[in-house]
Amino acid sequence: MLDVAFAKPALPKSGALVLLMGEGEMPSGVWQQADEATGGAIARALAAAEFKGTKGKICTILAPGAGLSRVVAIGLGKPAELTARVLNEAGGHVTAAVPREASAAVATGALKPEQAAEVAFGAALRAYRFDKYRTKEKPEDKPKLAKLTLLTAEPPRAKAAWQPLEGVANGVFLARDLVSEPPNVLNPAEMADRCKKLTELGLKVEVLGPREMTRLGFGALLGVAQGSVNEPRMVVMQWNGAGNGRKRGTSKPVAFIGKGVTFDTGGISIKPAGGMEDMKWDMAGAGTVVGVMAALAGRKAKVDAVGLVGLVENMPSGTAQRPGDVVKTYSGQTVEVINTDAEGRLVLADVLWYCQQKFDPRFMIDLATLTGAMIVALGHEYAGMFSNDDALAQKLASVGHDTNEKVWRFPLHEEYDKLIRSDIADMKNIGGRPAGSISAAQFIKRFVNDKPWVHLDIAGMAWSNKDAPCVPKGATAFGVRLLDRLVAEHYEGDR
Ligand code: BES
Ligand code: MN
Ligand code: ZN
Repeated sequence: MLDVAFAKPALPKSGALVLLMGEGEMPSGVWQQADEATGGAIARALAAAEFKGTKGKICTILAPGAGLSRVVAIGLGKPAELTARVLNEAGGHVTAAVPREASAAVATGALKPEQAAEVAFGAALRAYRFDKYRTKEKPEDKPKLAKLTLLTAEPPRAKAAWQPLEGVANGVFLARDLVSEPPNVLNPAEMADRCKKLTELGLKVEVLGPREMTRLGFGALLGVAQGSVNEPRMVVMQWNGAGNGRKRGTSKPVAFIGKGVTFDTGGISIKPAGGMEDMKWDMAGAGTVVGVMAALAGRKAKVDAVGLVGLVENMPSGTAQRPGDVVKTYSGQTVEVINTDAEGRLVLADVLWYCQQKFDPRFMIDLATLTGAMIVALGHEYAGMFSNDDALAQKLASVGHDTNEKVWRFPLHEEYDKLIRSDIADMKNIGGRPAGSISAAQFIKRFVNDKPWVHLDIAGMAWSNKDAPCVPKGATAFGVRLLDRLVAEHYEGDR
């Protein structure tokens, strides 16, 4: 984690200085001091670059004088459009602009201390890097930035606002770490062990193995797992933070459920070789659930929440399940497995049913890298959203816009149920090419008993091949900030 500090505005005597500037803002404070100390070099450079503070515009001035190695101006855009998202992204630009500086000071100009904290949040999110397996990287190729000092009128207020954001950032990083790990390292047992570590944050963590799940009758999840020598796990994480004068942990919890296929070969319905390595991140839904539970605990959210993840490896072998097998789910409903590569829905079926039976939650939100068809429909901008509850879906859409973890709602309708009719069991596990993501959601819906529920198909969002302001390329942890904000805005305290 980037070391974040807050200090009163003062012109640094050396190193890098970042100036955040709104459109039409006039030089004042540290900006003005820097300009005077450099004999007007900053004003001249900004004029030459036609820099006007437009959102996302960046102007770097090297060695401007006054001992500074560089001054970077970053545009914040129009003051009236200055949302948390704009501030986070500006923070991301800060990190990206000074990779070769060990530390940097950021003049936040007219921003409030809480807004300075949002800048720090974006900067920290962008500074994430998964480099534990690189042993030969040259120092000159590594980003050096370790410390960021935000200059703000009231450092203690900014620090207080930063504290919960730091908790959320840690949740994001945990999710990114899990998703980035190679599949030979992160198998179901290893992922469960890492979930166990969340007890350090005050979460209650329970791990179920194959014996417990057999006793419960998790026929669908176990069918997927049976081809692998790596045993499955289900992890149940509980955060009881509601308080409210009531006994802690007595309110109906909100529930998050994640698909955790630590590697998806497709099983006997094996996938083509090209790109199969991507399927190490087929546990991203589970990674996000773990990350959001860590975030809620990390910022001591006043909510009761449960997170459940179904962890399996989908392998072909002599013990693997076959196309044509019929499995009995924990709900009692039977499924004809036509395609062993449609395994995520089988895992979710048992975990969702368990969640509902055990916790009677306020709502359930599941996350899964469920269908390639979702990527065809939405690309890498929006996750697909499916829901039986208009109010909950509306809240998520709105929070998604604010956090830039965007979700777009797709329809559910009983007519689509025809696609998953089986001749021999209660349903089959694939619906064919038309509406592939919808028939998958329609399948999952059968394991939800009229509970407010949202299914997020994050197949296109879990991994990114290009840098974004707050998300370096690689594992995105999509959904951690979305669900954290959903809780913060709608389900904390007495809400
Ligand atoms: N994990 C995949 C979906 C996926 C594909 C996610 C590519 C991210 C990138 C899922 O288990 C799967 O294989 N789905 C099949 C379903 C089909 C057999 C009905 C798919 O989408 O092809
Ligand atoms: Mn699959
Ligand atoms: Zn899968």
